[in-house]
This record gives sequence, C-alpha cells and structure tokens, in this order.
Amino acid sequence: AETKMWGGRFAARTAGSVEEYTASEHYDRALHAEDIRGSIAHAHMMAGCGVLTDAEAAAIVAGLEQVREEIENGSFQWKRELEDVHMNIEARLTEIIGPLGGKLHTGRSRNDQVALDFRLHVTRRLNEWRGLLAHLVESLQRKADEHRATILPGCTHMQPAQPVSLAHHLLAYACMFMRDSDRAADCARRSAVSPLGAAALAGTTYPFNPAAVAEELGMGGVFANSMDAVSDRDFVIEAVFTGSMVMAHLSRLCEEIIIWSNPAFGFVKLPDAFATGSSIMPQKKNPDVAELMRGKTGRVYGSLTTLMTLIKGLPLAYNRDMQEDKEPFFDADRTVRASVAIMADMMDALGFDVERMRAACARGFLNATELADYLASKGMPFREAHHVTGAAVGFAERQGRGLEDLTIDELRQFSELIDEDVYEALAYETAVARRETTGGTGPGSVSRQIDAIRAWLDAE
Ligand code: ARG
Repeated sequence: AETKMWGGRFAARTAGSVEEYTASEHYDRALHAEDIRGSIAHAHMMAGCGVLTDAEAAAIVAGLEQVREEIENGSFQWKRELEDVHMNIEARLTEIIGPLGGKLHTGRSRNDQVALDFRLHVTRRLNEWRGLLAHLVESLQRKADEHRATILPGCTHMQPAQPVSLAHHLLAYACMFMRDSDRAADCARRSAVSPLGAAALAGTTYPFNPAAVAEELGMGGVFANSMDAVSDRDFVIEAVFTGSMVMAHLSRLCEEIIIWSNPAFGFVKLPDAFATGSSIMPQKKNPDVAELMRGKTGRVYGSLTTLMTLIKGLPLAYNRDMQEDKEPFFDADRTVRASVAIMADMMDALGFDVERMRAACARGFLNATELADYLASKGMPFREAHHVTGAAVGFAERQGRGLEDLTIDELRQFSELIDEDVYEALAYETAVARRETTGGTGPGSVSRQIDAIRAWLDAE
C-alpha cells in the first residue's frame, strides 16, 4: 500500500490483475509532453499567487525539465504500478528533487490534470490535421489546374449526366477538405480551454489564477464551471467526428479512384508506388491504398461510436470510465493523419487518361440537356423541348449513334427549330464552357474557384 501515491488509507496491496486492468501508462504516456508543460504552468501560477516560493517553483520546473529529458532520451523507467503518466512523472520528479516534488500537486487533482493534458494534445493534433488538409487541398488544386481542359462524364445515380471538367470534379473534394479544416479550427477553439483549477470537481481553496495557466499554455480561455471542466469530453468527441468527416470525404474519393481504375472506365492510371499486384493473377494492379483508406474509415467511425457510448450514462463529475477516452482518439488520430498525407501524395502521382474520359462523354448522351436548352432558347417551352430531345435520343440510341452523329435532316424530323448551329451546341466542350454561373463547371468559374482556394491556402 505504501507504494501508491493514494495509498494512505489502504492496508492491503492492489491485486496484480487489478493493477494491470486499471493502468493506462502504456498508452497515456503519449501525453507526457503536455503533462509536463501543464505542470510547469501550474508551478509558475502557484508561485505567482504565493502558494509556492519562487525558489520552490524554479526547483520543480528544473526537475520537470529533467524528467522530460529522460523521457525523450529513452532512459525514463515507466512503472505499471504507478498507473498513469501523471503519477509516473510526479514520482520521478520527487525522486529527483525530494519531498518538494510533493508540492506540485497542491490544489490539483488528476481529474483536472488529465483533462488539461488531453485538451492540449487534441488541440495540437487538430492543428496538425489542418496543416495536412491544406497540403491535400493544394495537391487537388494543382491537379485541377493541370486539368482545366479535361472533360469527363459527370454522373448522377452513377449514370452519365452532363460533361464536367476534371478540374471542377477535383475541386469539389477541395471544398470538402477546406470545410473539414474549418471544422478542426472550430473544434480546436473549444478544445483549447483550460480546466486547471477545477481540482477534483468543486474548485479549490487556494487563491489560484486559472487564467494565468491558460495564458502560459496558449489556451483561449478557462472553464466556467469546475464540474463541467473535469467531466466534459465534448472536445475529443468533436475532434473524432471531424476526423470521421475527413475519412468520409477521403472514402468517397477513394471509391472514385477505385471505379476509375477499373479498365471498363480506364480514367486513371494507378501509379506503381500506390498499387499492388496479385499473388496469382499476373495482370492485376490493385488499388489497395484507396481500398484500405475506405476500410479504415470504418475504424474512425468506430472510435466515434466508442466515445459517444462511453459518455452517455456518466453522472457528474469525473468517472474512471473516462480513462477509456484516450485510445479511440489516438487510433483515430493516427488513421486520419496517415490517410490525409497519403491521399495528398497519391493525388500528386495520379495520372488521368484524358482521351478515355473524353471518349466516355460521347457514349452517354451527355449533350442531351444541351439539345433541350437549344430548343428552349429558340422559344420551345422546356418541358416540350425535353420530350422532343428524348425522342431524338431514342432514335440515335437505336442506331448506336450519338446526337452529334445525326445529320441535320435527321435532327429536323424532331423539330423545325433545329438549324446547323445545333452542332456547336452539342459539342461537349461547349456544354462545359457555357456553364459559367456561380460555382459552375465553366472555365471562368473554375478559374475563380482555383483563385479562391489559393487565397485560402495563403491564409492558412
Ligand atoms: N488515468 C486517469 C484518466 O485517464 C487519470 C485520472 C484519474 N483520476 C482518478 N481520480 N482516478 O482518466
């Protein structure tokens, strides 16, 4: 019992199986840098309000810096029986500086300590995600820039609908990842709130200054209610939701890459570095990276579900259940960071088959809307134009031809309003070029989108 920091009232030792079951040091040691930063800020704040002398605070800070050094150079001895990162560090501090180390935990509980550490950690990761997302948006923007003039069938219901530029298609994903970055920034704002000073749950009797701690740690604010401060895990749930949304967007892009790499489409050429072969079928080049990313999306959603379920029945304030909040975040964070980074690299390396994309437009009557709009522009009500065009499509389809392959006489059977200028309207390039309305696929609109993304990247 005497080996435990909390062992004063205990007569018997903790069962070995219980020690094993309750410990978290093997994973929460990932919070060591934040734990030490937080403790240093706490010591400074206590000196500032006279709870420690300046000399005591200086000795504690020097000791903590030595602990940090030991952890970073790998000489630190992590002890399972010390339960978690917080007590491992404090125990070592006391070994180094003696009983003064015991003053560090004045007016503090592991409840506000762990909340602080985790908030600092999650905030840092959210900011890293933003950097990675910006990198991905930049890759998409660069690819889009190269493919302003490439056209492919835009689909609805996975059926050919209207031609769009590849640039426009890729920029749709850039929009998603910019929103994700914005979500991460918003979430970081709520995460960067310091709970230190809440102590176990009720606040503390010491004349503490929580704002000084928040200020030293670069956090935007302090808790308003000590019970909320130690039991709020919204920040990590929001972060994992943000990561889930990132993965959902990646997964949709992966799905397109997988479909486009099927030879029936043949729109993308998988770079060798991002594909794998089959052990039996020599012809295979499989989009495993995209498939795994689609698969790992489920893993991140799993973490979100774990956290939502973890929190749902917990009464105020701290409950030990909350220790289970770390691993789902760590796992989601690893997956999100690796996935965003790999997608950016894969996007850079992806080759598009411009001819195949262009040829696919001709097979799907992607200019049928153009014929209807053409007739409408000559005065025919759009509903009637839609019907007339449908008849022309049926006629051409039965003969295995496209609308643009029909002669002017064949076309005029459907309406006397049709003249030679119809061929200009039926050209796929024209269909793309004419869609210059806000956010449309026209080249002017695409240029404006690219400019806006560049401005966003500059501001990031
Ligand atoms: N390892 C614990 C956690 O992650 C730290 C807080 C423990 N507090 C306590 N009173 N047992 O939640």
